[in-house]
Amino acid sequence: MTTFIDREPDAAVPAQAELVLDVQDLSVRYRSRRSWTTVLQDVDLSIASGESVVLAGESGCGKTTLAMAALALLPKNGETIGSITLTRKSGLQVRIDELDAKELRPLRWTEMAVVYQGAMNSLNPLLTIEDHFVETAAAHPGAMPRQDVREWSRELLELVMLDAERVLTSYPHQLSGGMRQRVNIALALLLKPRLLVLDEPTTALDVITQRTIIEILRSLQRDLGFAMVFITHDLALASELADRVAVMYKGRIAEMGTVQEIFGSPQHPYTKALLAAIPRWDDEPGTLASITEVMRQLADEEAAAGAQPAQTSETDQEARA
Ligand SMILES: Nc1ncnc2c1ncn2[C@@H]1O[C@H](COP(=O)(O)OP(=O)(O)OP(=O)(O)O)[C@@H](O)[C@H]1O
Ligand SMILES: [Mg+2]
Repeated sequence: MTTFIDREPDAAVPAQAELVLDVQDLSVRYRSRRSWTTVLQDVDLSIASGESVVLAGESGCGKTTLAMAALALLPKNGETIGSITLTRKSGLQVRIDELDAKELRPLRWTEMAVVYQGAMNSLNPLLTIEDHFVETAAAHPGAMPRQDVREWSRELLELVMLDAERVLTSYPHQLSGGMRQRVNIALALLLKPRLLVLDEPTTALDVITQRTIIEILRSLQRDLGFAMVFITHDLALASELADRVAVMYKGRIAEMGTVQEIFGSPQHPYTKALLAAIPRWDDEPGTLASITEVMRQLADEEAAAGAQPAQTSETDQEARA
């Protein structure tokens, strides 16, 4: 049976560096009308200060669920088991999974921020970009003096390579998709979080804009030192950004390692299949590997070994038992 592949005894936890987020034994299930479906099972994930971790894997494997559970942002029908520990700027550790909404509020944006999947179209069409910055700061009184908000917004917009003066007075519809996404990134960094989660921030953008955003994220991270979780199904993109890559498959982390390890010597058959499916300029026509074929083989192996895939359903009665 194929199991989780972890390179070193503790590849999940980089030595020395200070941990920002530490997720242990995390499982998530969603409730539908009559039953529960477990979509994430026994996931461990640790992220150090200043580190970039890429979550990669096919659609539906649980990338968004993992990230949202880690930030306590699951929809109401989601239930989490496991521990999620955040180390705050002060050095104090908090168990995210044990806090209620009111206790979580002061941590949002100031300690952990997120650019949601599809965020490009989520800016309020009735507000200027400057209003977005002002409102975000106003929602966290005391997090930053007013004068600093003005200056820092401008500086951030310049850091994401936008013309701050022009952009601040613009409405979202006056900006291109790539510009709106850069505004979202700047906005997420307004209150200087230690952890930034970006859920497929470049998926809807053209290749050149994607590359620009990756470059911007790298330089922002160098300047500001936040830890980053970047979700993508694009392994080629992951290689340009990640310190470590977690390859997810059916609600579990199938394999986790550095970019060199994952790309140089992939161990899990699913990682191998994902890598083989990246087209190269020198590929012969018709030689691209079929992921579907590899996944069929994996499913057969799991069935033969009697393994339980993470994505299983149970009725209410079973769930109560
Ligand atoms: N609110 C929800 N209620 C019930 N099931 C859900 C809910 N959100 C997600 N799921 C299911 O959980 C599984 C994992 O979904 P998730 O969105 O985490 O995957 P993903 O890897 O982010 O996929 P994508 O690449 O398409 O964004 C899927 O089977 C999905 O249908
Ligand atoms: Mg997703």
